[in-house]
Amino acid sequence: MIDNKALDAQIAQSVAHLKQLFGAAPAVAVVLGSGWSGAVSLVQDAQHLSYAELSAFPQPKVEGHVSEVVVGHIGAQRVVMLRGRAHTYESGECTGMAGALRTLQRWGVKVLLQTNASGSLRPAMGPGSLMLIADHINAPQRSPLVGEPGSERFVDMSHAYDAELRAHAKQIAQATGQTLGEGVYVWALGPQFETPAEIRMFAAWGADAVGMSTVPETILARHCGLRVMGLALMTNMAAGLSAEALTHALTLQQAQASGDGAAQFLGAMVAGMATLPSLQ
Ligand code: HPA
Repeated sequence: MIDNKALDAQIAQSVAHLKQLFGAAPAVAVVLGSGWSGAVSLVQDAQHLSYAELSAFPQPKVEGHVSEVVVGHIGAQRVVMLRGRAHTYESGECTGMAGALRTLQRWGVKVLLQTNASGSLRPAMGPGSLMLIADHINAPQRSPLVGEPGSERFVDMSHAYDAELRAHAKQIAQATGQTLGEGVYVWALGPQFETPAEIRMFAAWGADAVGMSTVPETILARHCGLRVMGLALMTNMAAGLSAEALTHALTLQQAQASGDGAAQFLGAMVAGMATLPSLQ
């Protein structure tokens, strides 16, 4: 459960620090998931700040693991990228990104563009494919909003993934020749991979991709008023759908193999947001 009193002080510190270093907030924030870190090299005039300087952000645990924000431009669009996210499987808590996302919103960010690595439940959407998230399934039925006060906690999730931003993504995909699926992302708590029986159940529920992130952040973001979009990079066929054994190394390897193309598409999409009337 979030301790809002303690978190509010950390958010105030983090917002003040971001304002002091970078001025007004960019309209667009991008959370870089596994395989997406190549997108950092697309940021022009990039300025880096470690999460260690932002007390509301998840604090870096592993030495040598990059946890930072990167602020700059992609084309005409100013952007802040978040490298490093807290996963529920690390602590058992699904509230790990609350401080970071509320900081972004209070700073003035409007859009949270989430990226992740996922297992595919669709044979036609093999490793390397990109899927726009149209909707999600919260399989663990865990909420980062448990204990929140007020009626805002009853967040409408019926249009969680912004229709205008999805239309924008599809238009950029068409213009750049990028194949882009669209479907339902199901959150599995992890850290173990799913069983084949679980994957058959998720498929029967209507899921197209499975992963261990994104859903708590979408809930937190909608609660604080950020517009959300999500892009999933398929790194493997989900359990039982291919003969290959599932390992973290395999998903990282595939993420690396297709990450550059994914990052290019992400860059084109962010750059194109500079012309979206609703973001001016
Ligand atoms: N399952 C869960 N999370 C994942 C997978 C998967 O198959 N691939 C990448 N992240």
